[in-house]
Amino acid sequence: MTASTIRQKYLAFFKAKDHQIIPPAPLVPADDPTTLFTNSGMQPLVPYLKGQIHPMGRRLVDSQPCFRAEDIDEVGDNRHTTFFEMLGNWSLGDYFKQDQLPWFWEFLTHELKLPKARLYISLFKGSSQVPRDQESLKVWKKLGVPENKIYWYEAKKNWWSRAGTPEEMPEGEIGGPTSEVFFEFDSVDHNTKYGKACHPNCDCGRFLEIGNTVFMEYEKTKQGLKKLPAQNVDFGGGLERLTAASQNQPDIFQIELFSEAVKNLEVVKKSGPAYNQDPLPYRVIVDHLRAAVFMAAGGVEPSNKDRGYILRRLIRRSMVQARKLGMEQDEWLSNTLPLLASPYTKTYPLIDKKIPEINQTITQEIDKFRQTITRGLKEFNKTSPNQINERFAFKSLATYGMPFEITQELAQQRGIKLDKGVFDEYVKKHQDLSRTVSTGMFKGGLADHSEATTKLHTATHLLHAALKKVLGDHVRQEGSHITAERLRFDFAHPRVLADEEIKKVEDLVNQKITEDLPVKKTIEAKNQALKSGAMAFFKETYPDKVTVYTVGRDLNQGWFSKEFCGGPHVTSTGKIGSVRIYKQKNLGAGLRRLYARLNHGNHQSIDQNQGRTQ
Ligand code: ALA
Repeated sequence: MTASTIRQKYLAFFKAKDHQIIPPAPLVPADDPTTLFTNSGMQPLVPYLKGQIHPMGRRLVDSQPCFRAEDIDEVGDNRHTTFFEMLGNWSLGDYFKQDQLPWFWEFLTHELKLPKARLYISLFKGSSQVPRDQESLKVWKKLGVPENKIYWYEAKKNWWSRAGTPEEMPEGEIGGPTSEVFFEFDSVDHNTKYGKACHPNCDCGRFLEIGNTVFMEYEKTKQGLKKLPAQNVDFGGGLERLTAASQNQPDIFQIELFSEAVKNLEVVKKSGPAYNQDPLPYRVIVDHLRAAVFMAAGGVEPSNKDRGYILRRLIRRSMVQARKLGMEQDEWLSNTLPLLASPYTKTYPLIDKKIPEINQTITQEIDKFRQTITRGLKEFNKTSPNQINERFAFKSLATYGMPFEITQELAQQRGIKLDKGVFDEYVKKHQDLSRTVSTGMFKGGLADHSEATTKLHTATHLLHAALKKVLGDHVRQEGSHITAERLRFDFAHPRVLADEEIKKVEDLVNQKITEDLPVKKTIEAKNQALKSGAMAFFKETYPDKVTVYTVGRDLNQGWFSKEFCGGPHVTSTGKIGSVRIYKQKNLGAGLRRLYARLNHGNHQSIDQNQGRTQ
């Protein structure tokens, strides 16, 4: 079965069980304070799993494009990817174990026709705070799964939250015990390198996890885990993995989403191993490039920060691997990219529409990096062999962006061995380079719902409305990114803003803060909300019913701002204090960027240090 058929079958299966199909959230979240990329189906649903009413009801289903930067180094084996599609279904305090497990079993064995003999189950073995999952055991046994195919694991394997085990969860984070289903490929022999005996969670490649049901019923508090208001189900299954299982294909890079691109690489490569001799370079290239396609479609530009840094890293890592296949001129790109994008153009029209921009973004980065490599190479050739060591490799990275792998290739040719561990020590010491990884932003892409971020989120709505009032109705949000330190807002406007215009906007925002207007959340029919003038983010697809935040004393008229948004927000604008716009950036092509921060009574120093720049 193809991935596309499985996606359709899954949505139809749960629709028939009274689920509403919700549109996937953008991979690049538009309005989520600090999340770089959507990394699971549940991420946009956290407020609802915590008890908020979802506009579409209590049974939801979707297929969500996800990106997990933390898996970047895992890519290379038969099953890990950074980008994937997650099939997801949710019960928001509706059905629980008794329905979820039999439904998923029915989907696997009837719809996908997976042989029952190849399916294995794992369950949570219990902890001091959470009991052993006997209830799920009963359900699985009733479904006919023999007990010797049911394995018990600790929280490290059978507990899920965006942050990891209960100990790793920050206060306010939700999670729960899980029951996973594994597919066994009998064509793969166990490799004792991974342990004496094989079992579902063994890393040898014989078993593949194809679905994870989280019984999401706990929240972390100061006192430990506490029960959420409702027992929820959060299910996620990797579409690529389910497809591989349905094809009895242990290598997910051989399913139709990747196989043509892999074949093409084998054709265009100039040297190096064939796929079946060493699949790693091929797997890294197709995985990273596919992720890059989705990121570029979401408007990410390669840079040295945040999302842009991840995109840059993906493209550059692909180039390094392409060199292992002798492709110095990056002749691999022009065919590989359309082969990876084409399976998605129907389901994700944005990909189709944006192919030229995606191509340009990636090609430009490749050209830039090729120059980098040339410069690094020059430096390498000038340096005497006794000075080529890990420190040199680090300096090349810091100065030219030269990846360690390339310096190491080059060094090898001169008979010099470089140690990755020693090199990593240098990198660790250099905070700037490792900052993106160390901020913790990627550990599950946790949204920061701190007080400061929440205030700045509401301030962003005020800023958006104020810009429209001061500059005109043509102002359109193009992006937003909020941290506890500052908000950043991108919008379309043909001219750079004059100082007086910025001042007017800032004054209007602060006036609305002084008025201490209530911030109210309502659930409305999408079309009606649009008709009433609520602002929606044009890059996002919304379900028929939406959550709307209105700032103003009167919900029907006289409000100052009304936007489609998932929150969270302060309850009234007075709580923001006051804000200061401290920087403007011209992004070109009619795009402007403003930065603002909360005022903490130190106007003076902000003025002096961070004057408005244009
Ligand atoms: N949220 C769960 C996961 O990502 C289903 O695995």
